[in-house]
Amino acid sequence: MALEIKHTAGGAILLDGNALRDQIIAELAEEVAGDSSLPNVCLATVLVGDDKPSRVYVGSKQRKAVEAGLSSRHVELPATATQAEVEAAVAELAEDPTVHGILVQLPLPDGLDPEPVLDLLPPEKDVDGLTERSMGRLVRGRDGHVPCTPQGVMELLGRYGIETKGKKAVVIGRSTLVGLPQVLLLGAKGADATVTLAHSRTADLVEACRDADIIVAAAGIAGLITAEHVKPGAAVLDVGISRTADGIVGDVDFESVQAVAGAITPMPGGTGPMTIACLMQNTLAAARMQQ
Ligand SMILES: NC(=O)c1ccc[n+]([C@@H]2O[C@H](COP(=O)([O-])OP(=O)(O)OC[C@H]3O[C@@H](n4cnc5c(N)ncnc54)[C@H](OP(=O)(O)O)[C@@H]3O)[C@@H](O)[C@H]2O)c1
Repeated sequence: MALEIKHTAGGAILLDGNALRDQIIAELAEEVAGDSSLPNVCLATVLVGDDKPSRVYVGSKQRKAVEAGLSSRHVELPATATQAEVEAAVAELAEDPTVHGILVQLPLPDGLDPEPVLDLLPPEKDVDGLTERSMGRLVRGRDGHVPCTPQGVMELLGRYGIETKGKKAVVIGRSTLVGLPQVLLLGAKGADATVTLAHSRTADLVEACRDADIIVAAAGIAGLITAEHVKPGAAVLDVGISRTADGIVGDVDFESVQAVAGAITPMPGGTGPMTIACLMQNTLAAARMQQ
């Protein structure tokens, strides 16, 4: 099913993450229903504490898992849980052969160290792609789970037919969750972009961005990217999320940028839903790896 192409008032293609997520979830549901060799594919979510946004994210991941024909299991621990209790809960899921993917919702409450928790995830169940072993596989170009948000950006580019080969890309942000894997994915053989990595110490961000064909903004600074950063016709993908008095806003000043960009994600409704779609892709891939 082809994606319907919509445009912003300024004429940019709207990279509609909600529509593409729905399409990917429908494709996965069809694949799962049509493959009788698959087990009951299960995504386990782990939520520690009572952070409201985390609860909302976990809830939508569980709902989308079911829509994709997967089953979901949820483990919840109070904010007072000890490091040992969190690790024991994750270790149990790691050993359970009926669980194919495990998502530990981050951040953990203050005082808990996520690293030893993530270290317990077997690479094949690490559907968020965040462990050292998954990262190592990505760097080495080996099969493994890729972090969902940067993978979602690649899906948006690919499915909307935005060429990356030989193009100049700028990634703003260098976290292991988003920026660094995004640089690796855009620069990988096959994607073949020439990638610049910008961060808070980049001397001149306008200079770094303004001849880029693709900009991925993942700084978490509201309105950081304006029309002056953007070459006419460039694709601009907004990952940043800031909660302000006016609601959720991204790193990209949508109004000014949509007038010069060739393609742009809305916020919300762009990269966020794609993160969830890619989590479901990874979970099905996890079940296949474990078959
Ligand atoms: N859409 C989604 O599905 C999704 C998923 C995950 C995260 N997010 C959002 O994406 C944003 C980034 O997440 P993260 O986990 O990568 O955050 P992070 O770990 O805080 O990293 C932010 C990065 O942005 C850089 N940065 C900060 N201010 C900057 C500036 N003025 N100019 C250029 N670079 C700047 C930082 O540079 P330094 O390294 O120099 O400090 C850092 O590398 C957050 O808003 C987060 O909520 C969205």
